[in-house]
Amino acid sequence: MLEKLENWRRSSYCGEVSSLHTGTVVTLMGWVQRRRDHGGLIFVDLRDREGIVQLVFNPEKNGQAHKKAHELRSEFVIAVKGVVQKRPAGTENTELKTGLLEVAIDEIKVLNDSDPLPFMIEEDTDVAENTRLKYRYLDLRRHALQSKLILRHKVAMSTRSYLSESGFLEIETPVLTKSTPEGARDFLVPSRLTPGSFFALPQSPQLFKQILMISGFDRYFQIVRCFRDEDLRSDRQPEFTQIDAEMSFVDIDDVIGVMEGLVAAIFKDGPGFELQLPFPRLTYAEAVGRFGLDNPDVRFGMELKDLTAIASKTGFKVFADAASKGGVVKAICVKHGAEFSRKDLDDLTAIAVSFGAKGLAWVKLTDEGWQSPIAKFLNDDEKAAIAGVLGAAKGDLLLFAADRFSIAGTVLGRLRLNIGARLGLIPKQGFNFIWVTEFPMFDYDDAEKRHVAVHHPFTAPMDEDLDKMEKEPLKVRAKAYDLVLNGVEIGGGSIRIHRSDVQARVFDLLGIAKEEAESRFGFLLEALRFGTPPHGGIAFGLDRVMAIMTGSDSIRDVIAFPKTQKATDMMCDSPSTVDQKQLDEIFIRLAKKAPEKTPEKTAEKPPEKA
Ligand code: AMO
Ligand code: AMP
Repeated sequence: MLEKLENWRRSSYCGEVSSLHTGTVVTLMGWVQRRRDHGGLIFVDLRDREGIVQLVFNPEKNGQAHKKAHELRSEFVIAVKGVVQKRPAGTENTELKTGLLEVAIDEIKVLNDSDPLPFMIEEDTDVAENTRLKYRYLDLRRHALQSKLILRHKVAMSTRSYLSESGFLEIETPVLTKSTPEGARDFLVPSRLTPGSFFALPQSPQLFKQILMISGFDRYFQIVRCFRDEDLRSDRQPEFTQIDAEMSFVDIDDVIGVMEGLVAAIFKDGPGFELQLPFPRLTYAEAVGRFGLDNPDVRFGMELKDLTAIASKTGFKVFADAASKGGVVKAICVKHGAEFSRKDLDDLTAIAVSFGAKGLAWVKLTDEGWQSPIAKFLNDDEKAAIAGVLGAAKGDLLLFAADRFSIAGTVLGRLRLNIGARLGLIPKQGFNFIWVTEFPMFDYDDAEKRHVAVHHPFTAPMDEDLDKMEKEPLKVRAKAYDLVLNGVEIGGGSIRIHRSDVQARVFDLLGIAKEEAESRFGFLLEALRFGTPPHGGIAFGLDRVMAIMTGSDSIRDVIAFPKTQKATDMMCDSPSTVDQKQLDEIFIRLAKKAPEKTPEKTAEKPPEKA
């Protein structure tokens, strides 16, 4: 028989019962984690948000309560009154916060029952992730997930208080808006009142925050949902949260200074971790030169070395050709890697090829000298010179990439991460921050045969590079910066263009025609002409920050209701089809019948970094 709460009110959370309560009566409410019958006594672990406490039902104390306790099953919802007492010596549980205590129950109300669960609410569960996502509300009963969301709340509170104290105003921007060019596909929302027209969900509030600076708000922030229809990975979700900020009358160092303070505040207020400020900085050129990637994991060595000058003169055609075509020959030295097996090398080659390499030349430095498919093409002087640059010694493995600068970097950068993880070189604990600055303004898209913005088209070029814009666009550096934590890009921003003439030159270079610019962001271009202050800002990916802060493998673990790899919500089964009537109202006709849904797997590819 289920009972009513009536005038019972909770006096404490289960997890907060402490020795201060000893000898007093407490009223607790929560879920039955476990029931154990021990002859006469019945023990129940009662769970709520703050933890677990042990209840004892003694038939001699209250026969009726004991009888009710006997009927309890996992996840029944109950309220109890009882006296807090010390556990008898020898029965303490030191793993539990409340493990020295128990509550001797006088009264119990069974507020609700529960069907048998699809899986137990246990920390170490090997239940398929899809089942857990379908029953997300049950999975969220686990302490591990709850504590991550509680920490996320603390971080959000800390963000608000730090930024507010630093003069930032939290201002909301629209969700039904217009396409913002952040490089991903938009999610579109058809308009009923303007047939045939669509809103785009914001990929970021970029344009609105710049407009707020033009309006004179001076400092803005928002903890804001952003939407990007891109292929998902373990550190990407189609909707995710940014800590988004913008400031007026600033240059790079001002933004970096204030934002380092924010990061230090959230790590202190969240996990209680003191960070050393300022964070080190690397220019983009240094980052890609030494680590191959613009989100370098600088927690271990194995840095890339440039061997182009030596390699170009060797008899190995692959090397000489790469150098003569303006490419590079780069290499890494894997300490003690000579023990890698043939299969290991084949695996590494496959990884290299998957990132665009044409092959992977390798050398093992053994007792017999160079063991390598390319040894025969190199004389002793060349071998010594290569080993010298790489700091290589007997027992090491050398891996080479001969290619365009960007491919050689990516290939060796990825191999470095893979091997670093495989050899346990990457520390499991700790937070390593690094700013990457001086990104290039433009990249050249071979497929589309045009320049594209590396950050976004509103990013300002560095003052000293402004005159290179038309002649050598690929040499123009931007006032853009990323914050990288443990090799993951957790934030990115820039100083913006605040002059409409410079903005027009950038659009020109990007091949965005006047009419197109006018129709896509005409409102911003017009606004820039009405007294725009110099301004800049940044956005942090809150989900990524939380995932790293909590040591989670995937950002799904720090999002209450995440989407799967196929961007679906397993719990509410979205996206889903809609009635023809709803489609008619928004003037949408489906081109063809949508294919039947196929059951999906969330098996994860190894996390790749953005
Ligand atoms: P950017 O595109 O670099 O910059 O995004 C900022 C940060 O948001 C996070 N992020 C994501 N997190 C989870 N899932 C995703 N799909 C996803 N995409 C991005 C990353 C990234 O560093 N408007 C600019 C900021 C600015 O210039 O001020 C912007 O959005 O951690
Ligand atoms: P080959 O002479 O083509 O048999 O190549 C000899 C070695 O060089 C093999 O181990 C290839 O994997 C490797 N190799 C081929 N192309 C490249 C390249 N562009 N960069 C690095 N190694 C390469």
